Amino acid sequence: MNNASDMTEPIFHESLDERIGDPRGVHVWTHNLDAAGDVWLDRDELLSSEELSVAHRLRSPLARRRFVRSHVIARHLLADILQQPAGDIVFRRNRWGKPFVESPRSAALDFNFSHSENAFLFGVCFGAAVGVDVEMIRDNAELLSIAESFFSPVEIASLHSRSSSEQRNLFFRYWTLKEACAKLAGRGVSADAADPDAVTGRQHYQTTLRVGHDQIAAAIVWRSGHE
Ligand SMILES: CC(C)(COP(=O)(O)OP(=O)(O)OC[C@H]1O[C@@H](n2cnc3c(N)ncnc32)[C@H](O)[C@@H]1OP(=O)(O)O)[C@@H](O)C(=O)NCCC(=O)NCCS
Repeated sequence: MNNASDMTEPIFHESLDERIGDPRGVHVWTHNLDAAGDVWLDRDELLSSEELSVAHRLRSPLARRRFVRSHVIARHLLADILQQPAGDIVFRRNRWGKPFVESPRSAALDFNFSHSENAFLFGVCFGAAVGVDVEMIRDNAELLSIAESFFSPVEIASLHSRSSSEQRNLFFRYWTLKEACAKLAGRGVSADAADPDAVTGRQHYQTTLRVGHDQIAAAIVWRSGHE
């Protein structure tokens, strides 16, 4: 098991201070953005002016703090990998918004992160592209109508055949996988989001996590070579 493309499962790291060690494979961290005692994650001076202007546009102090913390975590993890001070990392985005590291240049590295309320998921790999998504599993009366707009006929039929709690869990499984596929490609909202074959040729891993008291659906998708 050498390259990211050979891996069947990502490597989950327990703590933000846990180092990658062997850089091969897809490495993943999860974190509770509301964890008490994480004041070191509130260091918004590490962010770029672009990140700060997004943060300042967020009206809710909670949303602002979560945004800052998620970006500080991304910088902290990438700083460790790239052996650069966290504040020196320069991000750019592709035309659809997927961020990548512009400096220090590391062509082989790809990363992606996702947040849903207080839940945060970060994935990084070398020599492959990665997309991740997390969603808090919640009851939502609109699930089936959302599915009608975005899911395939097979997926919709599968949802209809389930009890309501199974239906909710399956909905978030489908949803996070579609989002992670779209995020791997870096395209954001795209026509292939509803394509059940979007995952073809890609490695993927799905799980349910607990972050704080909440249940979170998580999907990680990777593919060798950048798309
Ligand atoms: C852009 C998009 C990927 C963001 O997804 P989201 O669930 O709202 O938010 P997440 O927390 O998972 O991800 C946000 C992070 O992804 C990254 N991101 C932004 N645009 C991205 C893109 N085009 N590709 C990959 N990653 C992207 C950023 O780091 C962003 O964090 P930031 O806003 O703090 O900078 C999403 O709005 C989108 O376009 N999805 C397309 C897929 C789709 O059509 N799904 C429908 C369901 S089938």
